[in-house]
Amino acid sequence: MSLQKPENDLLLRAARGERTERTPVWLMRQAGRILPEYRAVRASLSGFKELVETPEKAAEVTIQPVDLLGVDAAIIFSDILVIPEAMGLPYEMVEKRGPLFRDTVRDERDFDRIRTAKAEDLGYVYEAIRLTLDGLGGRVPLIGFAGAPFTILCYMTEGSGSKTFSTARKFIVQRPDLAHRLMDMITESTIVYLRAQIDAGAHLVQVFDSWAGILSPADYRTFCIPYLKRICDALNGTVPVTLFSKGAHYSYADLAALNCHTVGVDWNTPPEAARQAVGPNRTLQGNLDPAALYGNGKEIVKATTDMLRAFGGHRHIANLGHGVYPDTSPEHVKIFIDTVKSFRHE
Ligand code: CP3
Repeated sequence: MSLQKPENDLLLRAARGERTERTPVWLMRQAGRILPEYRAVRASLSGFKELVETPEKAAEVTIQPVDLLGVDAAIIFSDILVIPEAMGLPYEMVEKRGPLFRDTVRDERDFDRIRTAKAEDLGYVYEAIRLTLDGLGGRVPLIGFAGAPFTILCYMTEGSGSKTFSTARKFIVQRPDLAHRLMDMITESTIVYLRAQIDAGAHLVQVFDSWAGILSPADYRTFCIPYLKRICDALNGTVPVTLFSKGAHYSYADLAALNCHTVGVDWNTPPEAARQAVGPNRTLQGNLDPAALYGNGKEIVKATTDMLRAFGGHRHIANLGHGVYPDTSPEHVKIFIDTVKSFRHE
């Protein structure tokens, strides 16, 4: 586990519910295509996967937003899809189309080709974490992450991205037994993986349930909450845990009842409603509409300030309500970050 306490520990203090002089800020997907410097590193390699699997390069692009944008945290450059790969389903990242799996899990026989991942399957991620910590020199905390079991199940059954993930939903309705069996294997793999990221030095971990919003509240309770609970319980006492369930505002109260520190808020949920759902003892993270960064400087300052006021200053980590869009100007991202950093609540 990380012994190194970062100089700027605003993120960690806000996650633990301590008072901070100002609100910490970082962006989901900050290590990525918005930065020409990222695109240059990626263009020097065969593609996205080589970047993920080359620790020196992954560390370099992880640190870029800290140097270039001035965020209060780094997030390790990787992808949630490394878990299905470690379980036996390799993926490709197809240019302009997104992830593609050769094999999927849709019936009993498909379980023959998968297994629970072992920590050592993902050694390149821990190496990237160690190199990033060296490069950061203790400036800001480093966030580790994984996909939530349900979102990983979506990709393992569907085999690619999808607007509706109807194969995943059909699987859950028609074969709930197999869905639970798969969720169980993903959950065990994720626990081992997040623990190893923490052992390598990650200061906080975030679990991304990006497709939570396609489930009914009842299915979310059955297929997501128990597995997220197992992850939170397994990590309890290590580092702060953030749960981000996009599109599932109805789940915030259930998430807040788990052993987590922070609940991520998407931009469709009013901050006041999120606070009411989670109560006073959890930190909220979010939730500027990523499209607000397409506005002009004045509009970005206003939208950001309105958001900061709505969250009320205490137990808040500023972020967007989802990942930053790839065609966002880094200058506009900088306006968002600088607005948060100079804002003081009365
Ligand atoms: O946040 C960060 O800066 C760290 C890096 C990070 C990536 N993916 C890099 C990436 C993180 C945290 C992720 C998480 C991730 N990956 C999620 C959950 C978060 C979310 O946005 O909902 C999901 C659903 C994925 C799966 C994934 N990876 C898809 C569907 C795609 C293709 C669509 C897209 O955004 O291009 C990816 C590719 C990917 N992962 C890229 C990056 C920077 C773009 C690939 C490239 O550089 O060409």
